[in-house]
Amino acid sequence: MGITLQQVSYTYQANTPFEGRALFGVDLEIVEGSYTALIGHTGSGKSTILQLLNGLNVPTAGTVLIDETVITPTSVNKDIKQVRKKVGLVFQFPESQVFDETVLQDVAFGPQNFGVSKEDAEAVAREKLSLVGIDEDLFDRSPFELSGGQMRRVAIAGILAMEPHILVLDEPTAGLDPAGRKELMAIFKGLHEAGMTIVLVTHLMDDVADFADFVYVLEKGKVVRSGKPSVVFQEVDFMESIQLGVPKITKFAANLERRGFVFEKLPITIEEFTEVITHG
Ligand SMILES: Nc1ncnc2c1ncn2[C@@H]1O[C@H](COP(=O)(O)OP(=O)(O)OP(=O)(O)O)[C@@H](O)[C@H]1O
Ligand SMILES: [Mg+2]
Repeated sequence: MGITLQQVSYTYQANTPFEGRALFGVDLEIVEGSYTALIGHTGSGKSTILQLLNGLNVPTAGTVLIDETVITPTSVNKDIKQVRKKVGLVFQFPESQVFDETVLQDVAFGPQNFGVSKEDAEAVAREKLSLVGIDEDLFDRSPFELSGGQMRRVAIAGILAMEPHILVLDEPTAGLDPAGRKELMAIFKGLHEAGMTIVLVTHLMDDVADFADFVYVLEKGKVVRSGKPSVVFQEVDFMESIQLGVPKITKFAANLERRGFVFEKLPITIEEFTEVITHG
């Protein structure tokens, strides 16, 4: 299943003194099986888009198509509930939403809430906890005894336990150390390789280059660029002008280019750079 936004605008607290327009005529497509990144400066509308992708928000104008469900400004909750289960949304700092008495119960809560038996829900919970690297001897502990990084994994396992088709991640590695970041990104990569569609909000351009196959660049509530990372990151000056920049290796190559080194196109990963230097 895929998701399409057609001319979507979104306004917070419309018709009040606090009205805030967050999105303006956004066209965007999450292709089934893709690993799509959303990038943009703070306040550009990334989290607002994520909440439209799973029907948590309905558009103020325009249409959101999730699989075969059409969401318009007049859609009501009961039309949306089923699609919400198919699109797993991991908020920023999801560990703040862990609440149950034990790690296992916390992860099993979601499926049970959708009518799965306790036994089956716990079986799924065990599987997803192992997948995110939580050791079995932690399953019966209180989640509040875990480290922040472990709690985050428990929260992610809780979303995966709903067996979503699409996993939507809002800066999932924010605040983690480099090892924790790398491990989590490897888990998402594994899920993608197993067929899951991934949507990632990040401010790390290296992660976009290393993992995503498509990227949308947002600026002040509008899509200003979209395409393959290898194409979008050629525009070094533009990406810097909107305070995002490019992957480190791309910047390095652009600096070499200014000193006379010729690249057919700027590399965006270390592997590409090495390839050019040794064979190019
Ligand atoms: N609950 C809200 N009420 C009113 N305005 C809001 C609300 N949430 C977000 N906004 C506004 O909508 C715009 C887009 O916000 P959004 O949270 O989508 O940005 P973002 O790209 O996720 O930013 P960040 O990188 O800081 O997380 C901003 O101008 C923001 O102030
Ligand atoms: Mg945000």
